Amino acid sequence: MRNKIALIGGGNIGGVLAEQIAYRELGDVVIFDVVEGLPQGKALDMAEGAPIMGSDAKISGTNSYEDIAGADLVIITAGLARKPGMSRDDLLNTNLKIMKQVAEGVRDHAPDAYVIVVSNPLDAMVYTFKEISGFPKNRVVGMAGVLDSTRFRSFVAWELDVSVEDVTALVLGGHGDTMVPLVGYCTVAGIPVDRLLPAETIKAIVKRTKGAGGEVVGLLKTGSAFVSPAIAAIEMAESILLDKKRVLACACLCEGEYGVDGLYVGVPCVLGAGGVEKIIEAELNAEEQKMFEDSVEHVRTLVEQIKL
Ligand code: NAI
Ligand code: 2OP
Repeated sequence: MRNKIALIGGGNIGGVLAEQIAYRELGDVVIFDVVEGLPQGKALDMAEGAPIMGSDAKISGTNSYEDIAGADLVIITAGLARKPGMSRDDLLNTNLKIMKQVAEGVRDHAPDAYVIVVSNPLDAMVYTFKEISGFPKNRVVGMAGVLDSTRFRSFVAWELDVSVEDVTALVLGGHGDTMVPLVGYCTVAGIPVDRLLPAETIKAIVKRTKGAGGEVVGLLKTGSAFVSPAIAAIEMAESILLDKKRVLACACLCEGEYGVDGLYVGVPCVLGAGGVEKIIEAELNAEEQKMFEDSVEHVRTLVEQIKL
């Protein structure tokens, strides 16, 4: 029997998620959205393309939470996206109301599911979901670090004109301007990037990584990035569903790790059949530690504004 994957939010990211998950036959897909006809229309369109893709995965759309029953994995993208001039934090109040409804819907109808939250502001939204659902921390994780890291990897690969496959990178902290791209952990086929690129170039890449979401918003004007975020969430989904135990930067509930207690922030973790199976504590130098602490403080300020 195939896995069942419920997508809460059938907008831009939800659409790419549905298409990629179904066409890769990662599982049967149910798209839930509050807009009538939208998830049904997207699902029908994708289902009709499935024979060409050779996929037998079922794709359906719904406006009823009852249809997510039995989901093994839920990916949440419900909520407003950024427009030019907005920060992710500007979405807090609107998306908080949405996340409350979503968390209740998922808790009541898919109580055993693993959950990946994507909606912004990410660290605050995944915290909200965890608090309202009461799900254990290993089953609730946020997507941001994988996206921020793939952006960092792309910029390094383009600069060196090498395969993106050979660049690894790690971006920790909150998903916002305070994120922490770790230069010391960026390598090209195992070679530290600071032996291959001058300090000024690396500095520019770090700056671009931090502003990468805004760069896409500035070009699109009507919303934010949606293909790379979907692919990033699928990398996490695959690791859970196929028990790959990938080591990925994800927003995890820290309870003492990295000196953080009771907050979701981006840290490296092992994702497998048990969800977040372990947080890996990498050593940070003094400068990175300071940036990480500043980022955590920023997340704390946002979370303190949440009234549940
Ligand atoms: P979108 O606007 O295209 O789609 C959002 C969907 O949510 C819409 O179809 C809307 O009808 C639906 N929705 C609204 N209220 C709902 C509710 N109560 N229940 C279910 N569905 C509801 O936005 P897009 O581009 O798909 O982005 C989704 C979210 O992901 C945004 O908050 C965005 O900021 C965030 N994002 C997060 C990233 C990350 O790295 N964590 C990266 C990129 C975007
Ligand atoms: C991004 O990083 C806006 O969070 C969104 O593209």
